[in-house]
Amino acid sequence: MTTGIHEDSQSLNQRAQSILKANDKGEYTVPTHGLYPYQWNWDSVLAAWGFASFNVDRAWQELDSLFGGQWENGMVPHIIFHQPDESYFPGPAVWGADRSPATTGITQPPIAATFARKIYDEDRELGLSRAQALYTPLLRWHRWFMTYRVEENAIVITHPWESGRDNAVDWDLPARQVDVSQVGEYTRRDTAHVNSDMRPKKADYDRYIALVNLGRNTGWDEEKIREISPFRVADPGMTFILLRACRDLLWLSEELNHGESADKDEIEGWISTLEAGAQRLWNPAISAYDSLDIRTGNYAGSLSNASYLCWYAGIRSSTMLEHLNRVYQQLPYPVPSLDPGHPEFDPLRYWRGPVWPFFNALIGIGLEDIGHADEALHLKDATRKLITEEGFFEYCHPQSAQGAGGDNFTWTAAIWLSWIDRGMN
Ligand code: DGY
Repeated sequence: MTTGIHEDSQSLNQRAQSILKANDKGEYTVPTHGLYPYQWNWDSVLAAWGFASFNVDRAWQELDSLFGGQWENGMVPHIIFHQPDESYFPGPAVWGADRSPATTGITQPPIAATFARKIYDEDRELGLSRAQALYTPLLRWHRWFMTYRVEENAIVITHPWESGRDNAVDWDLPARQVDVSQVGEYTRRDTAHVNSDMRPKKADYDRYIALVNLGRNTGWDEEKIREISPFRVADPGMTFILLRACRDLLWLSEELNHGESADKDEIEGWISTLEAGAQRLWNPAISAYDSLDIRTGNYAGSLSNASYLCWYAGIRSSTMLEHLNRVYQQLPYPVPSLDPGHPEFDPLRYWRGPVWPFFNALIGIGLEDIGHADEALHLKDATRKLITEEGFFEYCHPQSAQGAGGDNFTWTAAIWLSWIDRGMN
């Protein structure tokens, strides 16, 4: 017998697959047409996870094309500009990274090892040679983080865009130290695609561009940026994500080498460092994991959705579980990108309040892995309801469910296919 729910889920499954196919450019996938016309790092990894539910070979191809943009120093850039597109700013000329294909000069959260492991698990026979080929590039990327981006044992970002949470309140105070006097005139493209109330403000953009200029002027020299940039912030999102990714990389390394990993000691060392870093990001003033400004030593005072990635990183916290259950009581569509009790909570403005379905998938994977089954189920059900009601938006209002940002969004479709519909965890 076919129930209504089953039919809904089947047609949503088809819609989700159509979105991935429509955003597929052959070897890589755009997050959505118009607003984001290139290959974005963590969007692409999630696209791969979505493809894995119906075409595992295409999933590996997505990861291969992402790592095709890897720099000699090991960094995997946040955008690969495969072909020129006037609809996006700032494009390759502003970044001045002088590479082919052109890329930005910064990175994004390293979720790739975690999802490579999941995709490998989907079909181990097909995945063996693909995972073997990707293993060293993954190791080199993690090593780049551990070489250039560790402060107080946690992972720092040098640009708000690296965190993926562009206008989170986490960056407000440190970004105020950025000199914007030389930025000059420029035309934003994002607000031509999306209502400006749902996007970062002009003052944020000035700082984004100033930090791009600063990096470009050093020739994207990490040592130099560390020395001169006023913006150096330890991010719980980056730290938890890399910690999880190192655990998954170690697993892959042992799996691919019959239990004998030559890199075991190095990766275990990274895991210990990052475990200490995660503890450093506990802000007792808000009883939560928080961002830490390395230049001033101040916490941001921000309980964000990144704070809830502790379980994803394998770290238990009963206090964070209390926060989560409180938010579940307060909002029909958790998890908000900023705590609703924060004075800056702004439910439609990008990373200052909306719920991001793909981020819920990361939190949900963590909850399930660590054994908080009830909370994991609640989150999956709420996200299913959100997408069923609103469709595949980039982010949504956590009270009304109103869809916001880009529509027909790759990572929302991907998590529908692999997390909600198939329960691939
Ligand atoms: C943007 O252009 O809004 C992106 O988030 C930058 O990565």
